[in-house]
Amino acid sequence: MKEWTLSNGLSLPAVGFGTYKAAGEEAVDAAFESGYRYFDTAAFYGNEEAVGRALTRQPREQWQVATKIWKTELGYDKAWASFEGSLRRLGTEYVDVLLIHWPKAAPNDPDWQRLDRETWRAMEEMQAQGLARTIGVSNFLPHHLENLRVTANVPPAIDQIEFHPGYLQEETLDYCRAHGIQVQAWSPLGRMRMMGHPLLVELAEKYGVFPAQICLRFALEMGVMPLPKSSDPRRMAENLALSSFSLEPVDVERIRGMEEAGWSGEHPDRERVML
Ligand SMILES: NC(=O)c1ccc[n+]([C@@H]2O[C@H](COP(=O)([O-])OP(=O)(O)OC[C@H]3O[C@@H](n4cnc5c(N)ncnc54)[C@H](OP(=O)(O)O)[C@@H]3O)[C@@H](O)[C@H]2O)c1
Repeated sequence: MKEWTLSNGLSLPAVGFGTYKAAGEEAVDAAFESGYRYFDTAAFYGNEEAVGRALTRQPREQWQVATKIWKTELGYDKAWASFEGSLRRLGTEYVDVLLIHWPKAAPNDPDWQRLDRETWRAMEEMQAQGLARTIGVSNFLPHHLENLRVTANVPPAIDQIEFHPGYLQEETLDYCRAHGIQVQAWSPLGRMRMMGHPLLVELAEKYGVFPAQICLRFALEMGVMPLPKSSDPRRMAENLALSSFSLEPVDVERIRGMEEAGWSGEHPDRERVML
């Protein structure tokens, strides 16, 4: 299956493994066994030690790990402290990808622009020192990315956003395409909220696959790297088995034209909506 090539030249596999609430070492061991080689974690998930214990049993060149700086840890000094904690908990000398988890500590934080730029300055140093091979962001909309551009020397290589049928954030996708930023999809299955949607069920029947595979193949067709999470080895394998089919352009357009559905309720500039 295809790989993604980032603006800094690093290659990432087509599909990564999401570890939020998959947590345990066994899940990561099983995911590695299933063939996953890219693992998405975050300081906030509280599972870096478990993820690190499972991954460091394998040769370092065989896996990639991404972690994130939580939104309360923005700013030059706090970002460094957060990242040093992540490295220690993961038990690795470097991470492959380091992201700012959210652009703001709170929707009305008046200081977010300065804090994001300072965090980025620290991350540029981490990259220059070989501690983070790639630096990027998560949940950044175009205006948050524009803010970084004012002082950045290194552009973000990745933006990880909520993306699944029913919630595509196409404005951010367009911006990222135009600026060479690889988009990654969090909740690429809409945390199962979309699994019973009639269009996805219809397409699953048409292609002889599961609705989850329609969601993931759709991400690939849109140039987006999905990060599905599963605690079940059978579903882990299912989520990697995407090379036997591709969606016809007309079906990609039908999914793009779906009504808005399955949103998590999280948005960087608004209070969380409990759905
Ligand atoms: N950057 C951010 O702010 C952010 C936010 C949220 C998530 N993330 C990242 O994105 C990853 C994925 O997102 P997510 O965990 O929210 O949601 P998701 O991957 O869209 O959905 C996970 C849910 O789908 C189920 N599932 C998995 N494969 C399936 C299949 N083939 N058929 C049916 N159901 C299936 C899982 O259940 P089982 O486990 O029982 O299989 C789980 O309940 C996270 O783990 C995390 O790494 C990032």
